Amino acid sequence: MAQAVADGAKNVQGTEVELNYYVHEETLAGYNAVLVGTSTYHHDMPETIKKYFEEAAVKNVSLAGKVGAAFGSYGWSGEAPKLVLEILKNKFGMNVIEPPLLAKYTPDQTALEKCFALGKRIAEGLIGKA
Ligand SMILES: Cc1cc2nc3c(=O)[nH]c(=O)nc-3n(C[C@H](O)[C@H](O)[C@H](O)COP(=O)(O)O)c2cc1C
Repeated sequence: MAQAVADGAKNVQGTEVELNYYVHEETLAGYNAVLVGTSTYHHDMPETIKKYFEEAAVKNVSLAGKVGAAFGSYGWSGEAPKLVLEILKNKFGMNVIEPPLLAKYTPDQTALEKCFALGKRIAEGLIGKA
């Protein structure tokens, strides 16, 4: 899913995209948009992601006004991307794209096309504003 989102953003000329499993919390402040992929475990986001944003908050990482999005694969309830968006919006003051993008278990071609479209849409919205 992350690869498809990144491909969609790269499709927009002039967009620089980084696809990372992890970046240091402080590094987030250097991007115009942050798109977070997370699967749902036990009706929640994985502990690593929760701790990551707690750490970013402790470090006062400034993300206000940047674009935020969340996507992820799930099995039956899929809460995690929505919870991440809430944090990005309410704690960090980001402009979030709602609703989050969900794919049931392994994303099929339709889901991957939606991922591509999400990346493209965000890049198109940012181009010229950077
Ligand atoms: C231990 C465990 C707990 C899970 N809990 C949930 C859950 O609460 N809600 C849900 O929608 N999916 C749940 N799932 C399904 C995963 O979100 C789903 O398999 C997802 O595709 C995993 O993606 P990943 O392999 O990229 O981590 C759970 C899976 C496991 C193994």
